[in-house]
Amino acid sequence: MRIILLGPPGAGKGTQAKSISNKFSIPHISTGDIFRKNISEKTPLGIEAKRHIDKGHLVPDKLTIDIIKDRLDNEDCVNGFLLDGYPRTVNQGEALKTLLDEKDIHLDTALLIKVPREFILDRMTGRRVCLACGASYHIAFNPSKVDGKCDLCGSDLVQRADDTEVTVNERIDIYEAQTQPLIKYYGDKNLLSEVDGTQEINSVFDSICSILAEIKNDKH
Ligand code: AP5
Ligand code: MG
Ligand code: ZN
Repeated sequence: MRIILLGPPGAGKGTQAKSISNKFSIPHISTGDIFRKNISEKTPLGIEAKRHIDKGHLVPDKLTIDIIKDRLDNEDCVNGFLLDGYPRTVNQGEALKTLLDEKDIHLDTALLIKVPREFILDRMTGRRVCLACGASYHIAFNPSKVDGKCDLCGSDLVQRADDTEVTVNERIDIYEAQTQPLIKYYGDKNLLSEVDGTQEINSVFDSICSILAEIKNDKH
């Protein structure tokens, strides 16, 4: 399947992406994870991206689009992929469409995880992430089995530099201004599906599986 995950910061895109990617054996591609890896390795891309991410702003489209272009050329994407955090502007959506048209492949769905603003701050301030594999935890809502260690790979868990109250509010504003237009963009193309992201994590995943099963059935 070829899936895009849409939703505000803290909607649970990364959390659900890990489970979806496992179930459907498709790679989880998160532009945020790619940037964070580059930041921790202090690559030129990481140094440039950090200037924007720390303020809660988007990394310029040009950089982001090139990363996705390269990543989708990878062999592991031939049978599908799950994009988490890309596209984030209509311009990125158009660039993705051009890329997929060139390969003569189509998206199955843009899946919106809906979570109202008032849920988000608690989720972000309690979040702990694994920089090695991108897994996301929460000290109260989804704790790791061993305190401070990733269940999946055993690496140390850290707080994200952009998970402060001020930056989170900025990210939500930017989401509303620049990313929300993609909801109409994919709605107009009949590609939008929606899930209630305020349910507990396993229930959100069950709802997503039902939606994806229906989409798969419709195609056959
Ligand atoms: P990115 O890493 O994509 O961040 P984001 O979109 O702000 O989303 P988050 O990762 O913060 O949230 P999530 O939806 O993945 O939630 P999670 O599952 O972790 O991007 C970071 C930055 O990189 C951007 O601000 C931008 O600067 C830059 N960037 C990235 N992509 C870009 C692009 N395409 N163009 C330009 N710039 C780009 O869950 C959050 C917390 O809630 C966790 O603690 C989790 O355990 C908990 N939780 C999850 N689900 C539930 C639930 N159902 N109930 C209770 N708690 C839950
Ligand atoms: Mg994420
Ligand atoms: Zn890990």
